[in-house]
Amino acid sequence: MNCPSLTRRTFIAEVTAAGAALALAPRSAAATTPAPEFRSSWQLMPDRPWAGSEFWTNPMQDWRVAGGRLECFKAAPARNVHVLTRALAPGAGTLTMSVRVGCVGDSAITAGKGAAGFSIGVQGPLQEYRNNLIFGTGLELGLRAKGELFLGRGAQALAKPVALAGLASVELRVALDSPASGSSGRVKLSAHDPANGRLLAELERTDLPANALVGNLALAANFGVAAAGPAAKMKSPPVETGRWWFADWRIAGTKVSSHPDRAFGPLFFNQYTLHARTLKMTVQLPPLGARDEQRVRLQVQRNGAWTTAAEAQIDPAARTARFRVTDWNDDVDTPYRVAYTLRTTDGAATEHGLTGTVRRDPADQRSVAVADISCNAHYAFPNSAAAANVAKVNPDLIAFTGDQYYESTGGYGVDRSGGDASLLDVLRKWVMHGWTWRDVLRDRPSISIPDDHDVYHGNLWGEGGAVAPGADGAAESKGGYKMTADFVNAVHRMQTSHHPDSPAQPGKQGITGYYGPLTYGRVSFAILADRQYKSAPDGKVPPTNTGRADHVRDPNFDPKSADLPGLDLLGAPQVEFLRSWTKDWNGADMKAAISQTIFTAMATHHGRDDDYLRADYDTNAWPQTARNVAVRELRRVFAFHLAGDQHLPAVVHYGVDTHRDGVVAFASPAVNNLYSRRFKPDASGKVIGDFRDSFGHPLTVLACANPKETFRTGVLEAEMDKSAGYGLVRFDKVARTITIECWPLLADPTQRGTQFPGWPVVVSQLDNYARKVVAQLPKLEIRGMTRPVLEVIEEATGETLYMLRLPGTTWTPPVFAPGAYTIRVTEPETGKRHETRGVAAKAENATVLRIEV
Ligand SMILES: [Fe+2]
Repeated sequence: MNCPSLTRRTFIAEVTAAGAALALAPRSAAATTPAPEFRSSWQLMPDRPWAGSEFWTNPMQDWRVAGGRLECFKAAPARNVHVLTRALAPGAGTLTMSVRVGCVGDSAITAGKGAAGFSIGVQGPLQEYRNNLIFGTGLELGLRAKGELFLGRGAQALAKPVALAGLASVELRVALDSPASGSSGRVKLSAHDPANGRLLAELERTDLPANALVGNLALAANFGVAAAGPAAKMKSPPVETGRWWFADWRIAGTKVSSHPDRAFGPLFFNQYTLHARTLKMTVQLPPLGARDEQRVRLQVQRNGAWTTAAEAQIDPAARTARFRVTDWNDDVDTPYRVAYTLRTTDGAATEHGLTGTVRRDPADQRSVAVADISCNAHYAFPNSAAAANVAKVNPDLIAFTGDQYYESTGGYGVDRSGGDASLLDVLRKWVMHGWTWRDVLRDRPSISIPDDHDVYHGNLWGEGGAVAPGADGAAESKGGYKMTADFVNAVHRMQTSHHPDSPAQPGKQGITGYYGPLTYGRVSFAILADRQYKSAPDGKVPPTNTGRADHVRDPNFDPKSADLPGLDLLGAPQVEFLRSWTKDWNGADMKAAISQTIFTAMATHHGRDDDYLRADYDTNAWPQTARNVAVRELRRVFAFHLAGDQHLPAVVHYGVDTHRDGVVAFASPAVNNLYSRRFKPDASGKVIGDFRDSFGHPLTVLACANPKETFRTGVLEAEMDKSAGYGLVRFDKVARTITIECWPLLADPTQRGTQFPGWPVVVSQLDNYARKVVAQLPKLEIRGMTRPVLEVIEEATGETLYMLRLPGTTWTPPVFAPGAYTIRVTEPETGKRHETRGVAAKAENATVLRIEV
């Protein structure tokens, strides 16, 4: 299907942040080129929760467009809506602004409660418009339902009675005149009868500091401090709250800057993967209404024209559109456009497009780079520098390894009620993640695995989807999910539905699985879910007597006492997947696993008080036997392990029986660190070398960036002190090396010497099974294959010792015990296969085995 004609439509491309930065007006421009008057257009919008691309509502679930007005239908403090496309610029100038307000239900205002009005010059600590949305405060002025105009808050606030006389709505007007500097900014607030413009009352201040009259413009439904918001710890008297509607918001003046590029939505962001010539893409949309268009199109450019390759219905819970296109030509870069038509109630249509490129599979590229990004507590939202720096290193693939947001993200706490309010609550947090990364996601594949906080858990022992007993945090360690299956599955669709098809069957409660394979750039990845099937400790392991079943403090704790039969880490079906994945080398030279956390217990000290913990059952060092099963599968194919979770950047070499006989793993830094962990194994300060982890596994630390002991107070400075940042893993398929890079949050990755001390770390592919070699098989000389895959099978046990794509056609396979082995050589791409049995391993082996296929 061809793209509909755009002649009668407006086409709006979702612009990039890079473009937005270029489009920013110079600081002095506001006074010389005033923005055109802004008018809200809710009167033309169908009923729906989303306020439109020019607005951001706090929080999303409390707002809706209804009957042509914007309503905040929850009576609660500090609800607000920011306009994204206008701001108060620095410098001298004017602002005139008006809005009509009333109480939801259209009763007389005096029958309502709370207050409604404006926040002007809303600024957060980073003085950036998206940071202002979440962390900003501004000058508050408006109307109290009891019949009072007010201007400012605290001791300097002005207030004046206003006769509302049964009015169901009032027009509030603001006139501001600001000097370039100093403290003589003037603002006048007036209330008018909307029917005839009659002045009801007015208030004025003439002492406003000019530097406070810069930043975002917002409407507020009730003021005060949100119960669980970023400023909740501030002392704030309880405020009366009501439910308010707003209409016809107008903004003009010479101090107003225009930012059409900041409009956000309806195509918020997207993620895609390319695997086995199948493209899967998930597009995240806002909560639309029943009368909005329900279909989204994926279009590709062929012969210069946009052709619709797939259409998808919007998922009513996850608000995603999901595309799956088979027989995708992965040899060429393919520009694409996601298209969606937004209609107003008067019949006008606006075509929105999100454009990007599905990159060709970098199969012939020598090195494939994977960004490892995890744990974003959003203190420095929108983390513009980190996103720009990740774009600079230009990864081939991005792996979001969990905690894409936290319960506290965006303020307003967490809605656990179930149902749509919970879905909108998590959508808002997820969209903040997408807002940060959208420009690096549109042009490269990415995967995203939810960790505990993504499903509103402090810790998650999923037990295959069981129902968690009770709803309090302490019950987490009894296992299962606290949120409903519908909620968890919607999160899984938001984050993982663009992954290659998963072999996972739905678990308990119908909770979906997402583990599975991804082969890209001739690196074969196993995407793992290491929380979802894990056994819970509480009621199974010896009592901890600490008040927390997962935290062991007893210095005499014997970790063997917790290694009990029947305990799962990955669960039997996922282990079965992992086994089949180890056998599948089709199109792959190297292998790696991606999961939420590392399979060792490295951190010794936890949390704000830097508590020493003897052991923590949240780590995947436990259950030990199940952990060793997983590590043995990974080392069998020399698979590197990428993870997040720890907030303690580290490269570790796992041991199973001895040091370094397992695979090498990278725990990436937190993007913004909520909870600090440290590795302080003894008083010596030594952190590099051989250790035992707290569950008894051999552990070799190759690099570690402990957070500082205390943190500076500035937002960005604190994150730098907390070792916040991101990582990158390069798979060199020619040298067969893996290079692990790790940057502090604000470091410029294009400059030398900017990584955390100790990085980059370079390991060889064979380091991922660096067991002591005691014998060798004959030197293999293989003819008739160009890229042979070698499988060495120990005949005494029938077990595959290891499997590896050979770097060439000659190689001398090492083994770890003398004896007889079967040598199987295959080439999965051509189906060629050869097997030699009874090959003897010897300590000194000078023989040659010629294999002719
Ligand atoms: Fe985390």
